[in-house]
Amino acid sequence: MQVIILNSASQVAVHAALRVKSLIDEKPDSVLGLATGSTPIALYKQLVNLYRKGELSFAQVKSFNLDEYFDIAPDNPQSYRYFMTKNLFKHIDIDHNNTYLPTCFIGQNPRVEAAAFEKNIQLAGGVDLQILGLGANGHIGFNEPTSSLGSRTRVKSLTPQTIKDNSRLFEQGEYQPDMAMTMGIATILDSRNLLLMATGLNKAKAVKQMITGPLSAMCPASALQMHRDAVVLLDREAASELD
Ligand code: F6R
Repeated sequence: MQVIILNSASQVAVHAALRVKSLIDEKPDSVLGLATGSTPIALYKQLVNLYRKGELSFAQVKSFNLDEYFDIAPDNPQSYRYFMTKNLFKHIDIDHNNTYLPTCFIGQNPRVEAAAFEKNIQLAGGVDLQILGLGANGHIGFNEPTSSLGSRTRVKSLTPQTIKDNSRLFEQGEYQPDMAMTMGIATILDSRNLLLMATGLNKAKAVKQMITGPLSAMCPASALQMHRDAVVLLDREAASELD
């Protein structure tokens, strides 16, 4: 695991964008693994800027998102599909048919949907670079503490802490899903490169556990210790508990 500490969250975004750019420069039909949440928004802004300046094209890129709420319509503003469209897809030249999220709706068989998602990753040739954020409890994707390190894409219940952390994004009284379909930890580890970004003081404890703690299902992000090409980008605040 390579840990890079930068001065600010905006430097983290710029650095991450340059890594995505150099991957796509080298391999225009790259397969990107994408994340939602607050952290990657600044990265997506950088990528949109590079596209607008004519320095980057996503025309041949395929993308696979880490997770999506269970039984949520794609045009629901709380869905991760909506988030991706709003923050990235609609601003760049990616073919929307090449953008995948792990969806599952009431009436569908979660195992079948999960297997189809994994199959699509395989058919695309595997993920070249997976972008990750970090939950304050050490989760990656929606793999909450105690998730099996060997887990693959499946429907998961969210923990009370994650529901609470995410409640800031929902209006009072608005329905907040408590289940999601997520890539598993083993699915994430299959990616050829991992790029985890963590910024802000509220991530400092999880960062310390991920990097210096034992490999443990209690901190799903500690699984990155097993990956040969995992890069962790931190701002000073997120790195503040590292010795
Ligand atoms: C999002 C995801 C989550 C977030 C994590 C951090 O697709 O998989 O694991 O990366 O909850 O979220 P933020 O960036 O909002 O702190």
